[in-house]
Amino acid sequence: MLAQESDLWQNTSVMGYVKDLINEHRGENYSLHASYINPQFAKVLHYIGFDRIFARAQGPFLFDENGSKYLDCICAYGTFNIGRNHPRVKEEIKEILDLDLPNLVKMGAPLLSGLLAKELINIAPEGLDKVYFGNSGTEAVETALKYARCATGRPRLLFCHGAFHGLTLGALSVNGDHHFRDGFGELFPGCTEVPFNDLEALEREVSKGDVAGFIFESIQGHGVHLPHPDYLKEAEKICRKHKTIFIADEVAHGLGRTGKWFGFEHFGVSPDMVLVAKSLSGGFIPVSAVLAKTWIYEKVFSTLDRCVVHSTTFGQNNLAMAVGLVALRILKEEKLVENAHRRGKEIREGLRKIAAQGELIKEVRGKGLMIGVEFGSPKSLKTKMGWTMLHGVNQALFAQAIIMTLLSEERILSQVPGHGKEVIRFLPALCIQDAEVEWILQAMERTMREAHRFPGAVWGAGKTLAKLAMKNVFHTQPKRTS
Ligand SMILES: Cc1ncc(COP(=O)(O)O)c(C=O)c1O
Repeated sequence: MLAQESDLWQNTSVMGYVKDLINEHRGENYSLHASYINPQFAKVLHYIGFDRIFARAQGPFLFDENGSKYLDCICAYGTFNIGRNHPRVKEEIKEILDLDLPNLVKMGAPLLSGLLAKELINIAPEGLDKVYFGNSGTEAVETALKYARCATGRPRLLFCHGAFHGLTLGALSVNGDHHFRDGFGELFPGCTEVPFNDLEALEREVSKGDVAGFIFESIQGHGVHLPHPDYLKEAEKICRKHKTIFIADEVAHGLGRTGKWFGFEHFGVSPDMVLVAKSLSGGFIPVSAVLAKTWIYEKVFSTLDRCVVHSTTFGQNNLAMAVGLVALRILKEEKLVENAHRRGKEIREGLRKIAAQGELIKEVRGKGLMIGVEFGSPKSLKTKMGWTMLHGVNQALFAQAIIMTLLSEERILSQVPGHGKEVIRFLPALCIQDAEVEWILQAMERTMREAHRFPGAVWGAGKTLAKLAMKNVFHTQPKRTS
């Protein structure tokens, strides 16, 4: 006999189970990680002094066990655009859970995914009117690559040198950073790299007539490299001329990060497919979306028996859809896209002033709150000596020394975006205010002043890294196989 509704969960109370686990194992983060998850990563974090234990997070901030506040300028690679643990999203999640909605019925059409798709289409450029929901950025990329091949019947895919589009096998095949590709054998055939910002190379490949799609980031996140002002516009023309699908990977840029809803809007283009992910999650539930033109959708889902030819079990799950709806609403109501534009401009202007006071910052670049600072060789004898010493060991130790100093002295969590780059990247939450802008600028001013003192704390951090690099501590990658 079926149990009465009220009896169903009678003996399954686990209330407080996870909370108890957290209390019981407090402080074991790195030993557990080293034992069961990724010992190499745990080691690296330890060596560079990033093995902190954060206990709480709110808005643009992280708090360690002692309650000290840190400014998070990694933001899960640009995920926490609305800030961490936004109270409004928390409330909505609790409410949704209490509705006991019928999730993932599968042989049915969920309401919330329809509503979120409609919202996304409303903010996207005209002509993008079908949406596919997945669970991660790389899955959105996989979807776009499949769609492009299916819709055109062509085999080849183009991507830019230096591009990052994710790490599953299809996405890896269009990844322009060989560090990530090496060691995984032969990748997908027909994927060709073209130099970034080189229109002739692009046209040479596209004009062969067998290219299904060209995938690009409006700003290359790894290194924060901007396209030349006309590159994307001309690339779009080339793709249109040769009927190649023009695919904007907006996983990191989309939904406000660059100070516009989509990064490609800065460059006046109108892609055939647009991929979003990180920001849509509200920082809570993994989700991604591929916005595509109807003709592309119709080629893929061409007949009734192909109606689920591309799908995923957790796609359109209620919680992700609900949080996506709330995240979009918060971005709009709190005017976070506009704030990203304003704060980004303030930070870049401030950083350029700091650059002018010294000789180590080569360039400050970016759009909105995707900001890169590139360092370059100094001229003064002493600092040049330090620079040459570090570069004799590894191409990117100075930038690493800067992020180490920013964390240890200034409580700013930042990152070197990509391998072998003397670049640091700031991706704070889009809700930062005057105080956080000042935090970044004052921290960078002090850190760069220190970097001009040789020997000093920054060069000391660099020396530690150089010693580790000489012991080959960081060189744990397998050899190239292709
Ligand atoms: C531009 C871009 N595309 C794709 C991805 C992959 O997304 P995910 O890590 O969610 O798989 C990333 C991740 O950083 C990204 O920046």
